[in-house]
Amino acid sequence: MTERQPAVHAEPAVRTLFTAQQIASRVREMGLEVARDMAGTRPLFVAVLKGACMFQCDLARATPLEVELDFLSVSSYGSGTTSTGHVRLIMDLRGPIAGRHVVLCEGVVDSGLSVSFILDLLRSRGAASLRVATLLDKVPCRKIQVPIDYAGWKIGPDFVVGYGLDADERYRNLPFVGILEEV
Ligand code: PRP
Repeated sequence: MTERQPAVHAEPAVRTLFTAQQIASRVREMGLEVARDMAGTRPLFVAVLKGACMFQCDLARATPLEVELDFLSVSSYGSGTTSTGHVRLIMDLRGPIAGRHVVLCEGVVDSGLSVSFILDLLRSRGAASLRVATLLDKVPCRKIQVPIDYAGWKIGPDFVVGYGLDADERYRNLPFVGILEEV
């Protein structure tokens, strides 16, 4: 009897933009860059859930320093494919960040509204330093300028999914990043 396989990995509407191998290689480079810049510190990698879940874990494994992890979540997209412009905190960090050297890990920076909101929040809590690492930087979509310290790739305005990024909660577990051609 043939076992039925989940269809997500053969989703015809997703065109590969970056393969799993390309992502692994680029994230390894980024981890070394972070380690070089943050030598002598014990950085706290804060993932913006859910989109940054894969990136944060891989970046932490690629960073040869003692790294701590924490997580938060904001909501900005709702269920559509364009930013609503409204950001709110829906899940907070577990621990305090006063005096910590923070690397904010994002899957994609689009309008910049989420990162801007989160940086303001973390700054108000007394982080010693704040850096932003994102796998993907959608430069043409920016509505507010935000400092990006580490970007995997600059990309265009296409809606991207995979490696943590979703469309209505689908595609997050794709091991590659692709452009969603039909939504
Ligand atoms: C997406 C993405 C970023 C944010 C970027 O998250 O993962 O966190 O939007 O958009 P912005 O720069 O326009 O603010 P989303 O709100 O879809 O939540 P999710 O990560 O849980 O999918």
